[in-house]
Amino acid sequence: MSDIATEDFRAMLARMEAQGHVTRMKKPVKPQHFSALCTKAPGVLLAEKVEGYDFSMAGGIFWTRARTAASLGWPEGELGRRFASAVAKPIPPVEVEDAACQEHVFTGDDVDLSNIPIPFMHEKDGGPYLSSGIVFANEPNVGVNVGCYRLMFRTRREMGIDLFTASDLRRIYTKFYEQGKPLQIAVAFGVHAFEHMGAAYKAPAGVNEIEIAGGLRGAPTRLVRAKTVDLMVPADAEMILEGELLPNGWTADEGPFGEFAGMQGDLKHNPIFRLTAITHRRNPILFALQMPWENDWLNGPATEAACMRILSLAGIPVVAVRATEGGCCGWSMVVSIRKRAGEGKNAIAAILSLPVVKQVIITDDDINIYDSNEVEWAVTFRCQADKDIVILSGMKAKHVDPSVRPWDMKPGELPLTSKFGIDATIPEGIPAFRYERIVPAYSDSLRLEDYL
Ligand SMILES: Cc1cc2nc3c(=O)[nH]c(=O)nc-3n(C[C@H](O)[C@H](O)[C@H](O)COP(=O)(O)O)c2cc1C
Repeated sequence: MSDIATEDFRAMLARMEAQGHVTRMKKPVKPQHFSALCTKAPGVLLAEKVEGYDFSMAGGIFWTRARTAASLGWPEGELGRRFASAVAKPIPPVEVEDAACQEHVFTGDDVDLSNIPIPFMHEKDGGPYLSSGIVFANEPNVGVNVGCYRLMFRTRREMGIDLFTASDLRRIYTKFYEQGKPLQIAVAFGVHAFEHMGAAYKAPAGVNEIEIAGGLRGAPTRLVRAKTVDLMVPADAEMILEGELLPNGWTADEGPFGEFAGMQGDLKHNPIFRLTAITHRRNPILFALQMPWENDWLNGPATEAACMRILSLAGIPVVAVRATEGGCCGWSMVVSIRKRAGEGKNAIAAILSLPVVKQVIITDDDINIYDSNEVEWAVTFRCQADKDIVILSGMKAKHVDPSVRPWDMKPGELPLTSKFGIDATIPEGIPAFRYERIVPAYSDSLRLEDYL
């Protein structure tokens, strides 16, 4: 088992710092200034002191592909492949007694969110937000569910939660709401990249995402019993909020918030989370996850893995898959394949069937898909627009995409979108030598260093 398999959030940060990924900020910072500084920092930002609070703050861990890969200890080109193999080998968690996340326990009148440096993150947000929580809930007769959900500060003991979109947590909450009963939840902050990515993964109902996190880790996640709710929580987390989602339904203002597609979202109406306990480590670090890239990179590896899986089901030899940053790490993909006749178009059809993907470029395996100039070169010289661009209409869409004009829809109506794929593989019938690249004469034998 590697050392990374047993790391907690702090050990992950320390390793990333040793690898040069962390910028330390010594001067005290106000929580509402953290996002601006974090998004300007050259690396993960670690604010050692926060004005008026006993917390330090960290952010930007998943801001780029490189940092995301570093957090997991995986090579950048392997994100999708490693994710796919981990999902196939889930590892159940273990229950432990020693829990750093409960070094300090606040219950009853001592529960006070104003002791936490909850940052106001984007100019037009509806309030300060905790953006990095992974939410645990138990669905009777089904099992534990874990997902990432943002929380908006409302009062010392109440937060808004965004349960607007279809999800397992929304489904579980709806069952309790219909019976007029509160749903117990626990929210963990400052967990390792493995637990974050497991929670972000859209696992089928009944699959405990903490077992997926175990698969990603290659070791069980350590869980401890929560103090005031009947749930198990990550023992090594920086902080846990415990409490219940009230059966008030979709009635409380929540938002606006800077959304994962990089645009300011709308005001929503959502349920209320009432806290029964706050527990945290000594000298806790609040992970202030920054939108949109940290949200997007938590999904990127899963989407790359889904592309690989669907291409392999379609019998297409896939070489590499890249979720591009411009496409928010999932809406726009670039894929290289070892093509046989027709498979450029087959690959487009397969990948566009994934709900999140809106556009895809397919290249041959001689193209380095991580170099956007090479991809554009392939599109320019290997594609005939009237034959090689495939457009599919009337497909499932997401409200967050303004180009589907969600505001024109009737309540309950689901948006539709058109999607496209570009087949930038060498067209059938054109011999490969037509694409022979220029090589400078004597390139193999000459070394620049010998002449400098
Ligand atoms: C950082 C982050 C924040 C997220 N916030 C929300 C949210 O507030 N509401 C939501 O519906 N989905 C949100 N998502 C997406 C869900 O976490 C994701 O769909 C997950 O699979 C849901 O899990 P569940 O269906 O098992 O409950 C977020 C994802 C990430 C990575």
